[in-house]
Amino acid sequence: MTALLEVEDLKVAYGKIEAVKGISFSVEAGQIVTLIGTNGAGKTTTLRTLSGLLKPSGGRIVFDGKPLQGVGAHKIVAMGLAHSPEGRRIFPRLTIAENLKLGAFLRKDAAGIDSDIKRAYELFPILGERSKQAAGTLSGGEQQMLAMGRALMSRPKLLMLDEPSMGLSPIMMQKIMATIAELKSQGTTILLVEQNAQAALSLADQGHVMEVGKVVLSGTGQDLLVDESVRKAYLGED
Ligand SMILES: Nc1ncnc2c1ncn2[C@@H]1O[C@H](COP(=O)(O)OP(=O)(O)OP(=O)(O)O)[C@@H](O)[C@H]1O
Ligand SMILES: [Mg+2]
Repeated sequence: MTALLEVEDLKVAYGKIEAVKGISFSVEAGQIVTLIGTNGAGKTTTLRTLSGLLKPSGGRIVFDGKPLQGVGAHKIVAMGLAHSPEGRRIFPRLTIAENLKLGAFLRKDAAGIDSDIKRAYELFPILGERSKQAAGTLSGGEQQMLAMGRALMSRPKLLMLDEPSMGLSPIMMQKIMATIAELKSQGTTILLVEQNAQAALSLADQGHVMEVGKVVLSGTGQDLLVDESVRKAYLGED
């Protein structure tokens, strides 16, 4: 069986600086796969390239059996790859409902969109309670819920989350992680980028550790959680 996402020897450069230096990994349907690593490792660059926002300088990306080479960002969303970006990027002056509708910008099925908005409100009740409020009035954690809800509005086959726990209180972080587990149990495939290695590896089927543009270690979430070098570098143990 081929994986839902196959990344092979992917390279991405900003001008002369190569930020991603030939990484390979795959995501099987139904899995949670996590990319962890320190600041500047190239995690966000990788997700932005998968979304079609950056052009690779080398390698191959195959999503759902089709190469993504030269495919535009809108088309990639239509193919089923959604991205909840680092820093959330919600539209603060628009209402919560309007932000969610923007996630469905490629869809024309009004009834389906309405039922998916209801589903987002089931997943995140606070969004339903505040649906007519400006999104900028939400707390950081609530804005993260909105960013995830918005990404789900394109009914993705693969949901990419870039640092969903960033800046959140421990309780809010737990809530977001529990929601990620719930989405998986509902059949959503997830590529999760996290600084919080403990939380990400606890949820992940597979994990890859990135350092300065390379994957330096790969394994199951459980394997990496008990790996000595991972524990020292990312889980704060000496
Ligand atoms: N627009 C840009 N122009 C030039 N260099 C960039 C740009 N964006 C990122 N970089 C560089 O590329 C490298 C990888 O950055 P990237 O944002 O992908 O890392 P990251 O793993 O997501 O880090 P963090 O955990 O801090 O979010 C870094 O050295 C960064 O400075
Ligand atoms: Mg990043």
